[in-house]
Amino acid sequence: MNLWRSTSSHPGWPTAVGPLRVQAGVVRLRPVRLRDAAVWSRIRLADRAHLEPWEPSTDMDWEARHTVSQWPAVCSGLRAEARKGRMLPYVIEVDGEFSGQLTIGNVTHGALRSAWIGYWVASSVTGRGVATAALALGMDHAFGPVRLHRLEATVRPENAASRAVLAKVGFREEGLLKRYLEVDGAWRDHLLVAITVEEINGSVVSQLVREGHASWA
Ligand code: ACO
Repeated sequence: MNLWRSTSSHPGWPTAVGPLRVQAGVVRLRPVRLRDAAVWSRIRLADRAHLEPWEPSTDMDWEARHTVSQWPAVCSGLRAEARKGRMLPYVIEVDGEFSGQLTIGNVTHGALRSAWIGYWVASSVTGRGVATAALALGMDHAFGPVRLHRLEATVRPENAASRAVLAKVGFREEGLLKRYLEVDGAWRDHLLVAITVEEINGSVVSQLVREGHASWA
């Protein structure tokens, strides 16, 4: 018996999402696992310069935060939030390989039905549609099985690649949050972007396929 599934009151979790084919390969979202430790640590340590300018600061140094032995606590924390129905923490796979993470967090049901969405992609596969595909899959899942009404994201104005991805899947800017988050050692302004289900033309994935950015796998 899958205890995780049976104790979850979380619509849309813990099912995998996808697949969708883009230039880099076949993209799929699946729940984080304890056995992701080695690949998570290897990529996060190698990609420090690619990731650190955009991620929240913590008291721990990057190297110490990303040793293999840190993953069980990180992963268990994410899965505990998922079991409570507050989060959908996914690994982004490209052709079956761990290639990043996409997380839907602060999931609220009832009259708000809202969440935030965030992601990172390994530098070895960037620039070939992976984040766009992962985000589209996550959005369709959030507005479909998870039954959310609104998704929001925060992004540094300087993060041109992430802003391009968010714009491509339909997020629109709602405002500038001054000194919003401590990132890379300082309090950084962030743009708040959002989208509600009414703004989706059927499915974000279908729209990407129609526009030639992706194809069905
Ligand atoms: N200026 C403008 N556009 C750019 C730049 C740039 N310097 N670099 C890339 N782009 C564009 C590309 O042209 C492409 O758009 P296009 O398809 O219209 O040409 C788009 O950005 C990238 O699209 P993808 O290939 O789908 O994205 P990718 O898989 O490369 O991942 C990501 C992008 C997630 C931003 C990756 O670079 C990354 O992980 N960066 C570090 C961590 C990060 O910034 N995470 C996001 C934080 S914000 C948030 O989570 C809401």
